[in-house]
Amino acid sequence: MSFNEKGYEIVRGVLNKQTTDLLSIQFEMIRNTFAFINNKHPNDFYTDSQIKEGFSSYAPQCFESLLILLNDKMNEVTQKQLAPSYSYARFYYYGATLERHTDRPSCEYSATVCIQDDESDKWPISITGLDGVDSDVVLNVGDMMIYRGDLCEHWRDPFKGDCHIQAFLHYVDTNGKYTDHIYDKRPMLGFGPMMGFQNQITEEEYTKISQSEKW
Ligand SMILES: [Fe+2]
Repeated sequence: MSFNEKGYEIVRGVLNKQTTDLLSIQFEMIRNTFAFINNKHPNDFYTDSQIKEGFSSYAPQCFESLLILLNDKMNEVTQKQLAPSYSYARFYYYGATLERHTDRPSCEYSATVCIQDDESDKWPISITGLDGVDSDVVLNVGDMMIYRGDLCEHWRDPFKGDCHIQAFLHYVDTNGKYTDHIYDKRPMLGFGPMMGFQNQITEEEYTKISQSEKW
């Protein structure tokens, strides 16, 4: 069954260990510095209103660049000409869970990439394909699942491990109905709220992004 019939596809080993190690170090540095300037311990610093057992970041540059790096692979699997909308990444801690949901229009074509896992809980992501069949997908470090975030419901049961990092890469079809969501309505990739960017997207809209973004 093709991607466009099933609504999702797993791509193994899209990133090598050196790359995922580098991304883990970069994202940990983002979390730790952000915690420091907020006078918090990194392990006691939660920024996500939807998943309280986590630290998340909209458009960190290490993952914005991953949008560009994997654009061709996304095109190949989806058989579409895609343009990036935005990236997102999250640390998950013990107890984190994700309710069954679909995503907003900027997540028309999405990839969830495993950056760091926890051997004590491989923590599958569950998804309902366009054929109506539910599947539990285990991603190893460096694997990704490409999926129609706007169409396929997806969720995760409570996490039993200590720490898991996942990156989310979102794209829209350049010949589709969401072309106004290219770059998530930002002037270019790389701009995020942690840079204090307040040009075209208001604080209220960023809050809305944060609240609606579950992956
Ligand atoms: Fe989602």
